Amino acid sequence: ELTEENINFYDFNLNKKEIKPNNVEVDASLCEKNGYEDYMLKEIFEQPRAIRETIGTALTDANKISLSFEKINFKKFNKIYIVACGTAMHAGLVAKNLFEHYIKLPTEVDMASEFRYRNPLIDERTLCIFISQSGETADTIAALKLSKEKKCTTIAIVNVIESSITRIADYVLYTHAGPEIAVASTKAYTCQVTLLSILGIYIYERLNEKIENANADDKLKEEMEKLKKDILKLPQKVEETLKSREKMKELAHKYYKNKDIFFIGREVDYAVAREGSLKLKEISYIHSEANAAGELKHGPIALIEKGVPVIGIATNDEINSKTFSNIEEVITRGADSILITNTEKAIPEIINNNQVIKIANISPMISAIISIIPMQLFAYYIAKEKGLDVDKPRNLAKSVTVE
Ligand code: M6R
Repeated sequence: ELTEENINFYDFNLNKKEIKPNNVEVDASLCEKNGYEDYMLKEIFEQPRAIRETIGTALTDANKISLSFEKINFKKFNKIYIVACGTAMHAGLVAKNLFEHYIKLPTEVDMASEFRYRNPLIDERTLCIFISQSGETADTIAALKLSKEKKCTTIAIVNVIESSITRIADYVLYTHAGPEIAVASTKAYTCQVTLLSILGIYIYERLNEKIENANADDKLKEEMEKLKKDILKLPQKVEETLKSREKMKELAHKYYKNKDIFFIGREVDYAVAREGSLKLKEISYIHSEANAAGELKHGPIALIEKGVPVIGIATNDEINSKTFSNIEEVITRGADSILITNTEKAIPEIINNNQVIKIANISPMISAIISIIPMQLFAYYIAKEKGLDVDKPRNLAKSVTVE
């Protein structure tokens, strides 16, 4: 019961309950627009700081990772499930690549709304990781409760302090994105991917701690050290990528009247393509699809016609040439390409050089944190061109607390 003077609590039988207040400190300036036209734009530009704070003490400048999970026996797990909804689930899709590459355990990523009803094959040997900005998403909470019933070990990655999910999960890791007010998630996503990457490395290190210099694959260990250094560079790299703002504004002006916009990529680039596509559709109301680049010719390429924009993401030189070929295929069918890449290698001439967005070269496992930035800006400026309410898109709520 809220009155002007008091907040009172009652149980279901209307007996008054005493609940001690618990102060949660939030910097009030984080809840204001601070001169930005919209919260979404402000939150996009807050990402360098948010990521720096999320890295915090979890990964130090000395390349040391410390998370308080000493009690977890990681050796007992035979598979990992990452469960979440929407953007948070997309963060999980990025992490799947890193987890399987380093931890060498099958890692499934599932939408909480599916997971909760499909009797997933989980037990005490399953590590379940739940991701949520709000910590209040109904489907994610239900999936978490189900995992606990099935005796899984549960870790939650959450942004909102003391939210429901943090009180149910066995272990909690906080992203320190600060309050995210715009419905379209931006800084929460990049912080989730950052923290998942640190968690992935931590699990790898825990699994290999007793066999230093023995069985652990040297190449993998070397890659891992570089990955840690790259994570520490993220705030600065994201800052640099924000300079693509004017270019993305220009492209938004060119394409805002289009009816369909496609995103393609492979592996991590496919995972981030899905997030770029979601960002665009939810605030601009333009139909958009993300496809694994190699799947195009199994159907979606039939939708390509003259003038349809296709955004390709290529951040891994081991597979970029494959994605470039797929971009060439759509260009020859009339598409307009936009390419987001960090390659130092030659880009096929057929790809419009004016529409190539060069981003920082960083480990492909975490490139999504950089490559999503131009896509966030693109979605934002398209919605602005269309005169839409960027922060409160139609039919959507910031926190989905019902099924
Ligand atoms: O609060 P959560 O992270 O659990 O929310 C999950 C989704 O509802 C959320 O990520 C949604 O997809 C975003 N609004 C997309 O920008």
